[in-house]
Amino acid sequence: MLITITSLKGGVGKSTVALNLAYELSKKGKTLLIDTDPQNSIASFLCVDFRKGFSEVLFDRIDIGDVIIQPFKGNENFYIIPNGLKGLKYVEEYEEFFLHDIFFPVMKQIKSLPFDFILFDTPPRISKQNKELITYSDYFMVVVNPDPASYASFYIFLDFLNKNNLENFFVIINKVEPNEISEEFSLAIQYKIRQKIIGIIPLDNSVVRAEGECQPATKLYTDSPFSLTIKDIVMRFLDLIKR
Ligand SMILES: Nc1ncnc2c1ncn2[C@@H]1O[C@H](COP(=O)(O)OP(=O)(O)O)[C@@H](O)[C@H]1O
Ligand SMILES: [Mg+2]
Repeated sequence: MLITITSLKGGVGKSTVALNLAYELSKKGKTLLIDTDPQNSIASFLCVDFRKGFSEVLFDRIDIGDVIIQPFKGNENFYIIPNGLKGLKYVEEYEEFFLHDIFFPVMKQIKSLPFDFILFDTPPRISKQNKELITYSDYFMVVVNPDPASYASFYIFLDFLNKNNLENFFVIINKVEPNEISEEFSLAIQYKIRQKIIGIIPLDNSVVRAEGECQPATKLYTDSPFSLTIKDIVMRFLDLIKR
């Protein structure tokens, strides 16, 4: 199953959510998290080498199997692919690899990998790349924060989803402080996509502390409010897709 994690705005916690969802899903099946964002957040969060990764697969046609990393020794269920260096060095060329005909064989390779769940972390924008990844994905998740800027960009995203008749998505509201979701925000958002909200994740410094330890919060602080919410999202997700 392919799952893409997206947002229109940066800094909403997309990579954090992707990492922790992937880690939690890895308890249910063999999971691979592919970082398609040249910012390399996933490898940075885990403090692993990101000099070779997905962008090298695209540019240099190296085998995708050669860039898969097992970050936690002994854990046979959790793997990542960093973005590498070429994506950052040649940003425009990088985008071109996601043109449908060029990307198709890469996607074929990805789909043939022996994983139960493959997640994509993405750059924060509507782009050829993200459209392509969304098109191939069985499901995608849109991460949004309860603030006006995020709210505005979220509506642009919803518009894009509507225009493209995309229904196979869920919404995650992240970095929510107690009582912070304004009535206006929650009414507006619920009016449009009530049934699409799969989780409301609290602002929780266990996330930042875990980053300092090069681990996902869901691994290190299993009972933090953040981790419990991620667990809940995974349970709900698996339940919803079963139906
Ligand atoms: N629920 C949360 N509580 C506290 N900090 C968070 C939370 N989610 C994300 N963060 C922090 O926000 C920052 C940006 O997150 P990141 O995942 O890199 O965002 P994006 O991928 O959307 O750009 C990171 O430093 C991360 O630790
Ligand atoms: Mg990111």
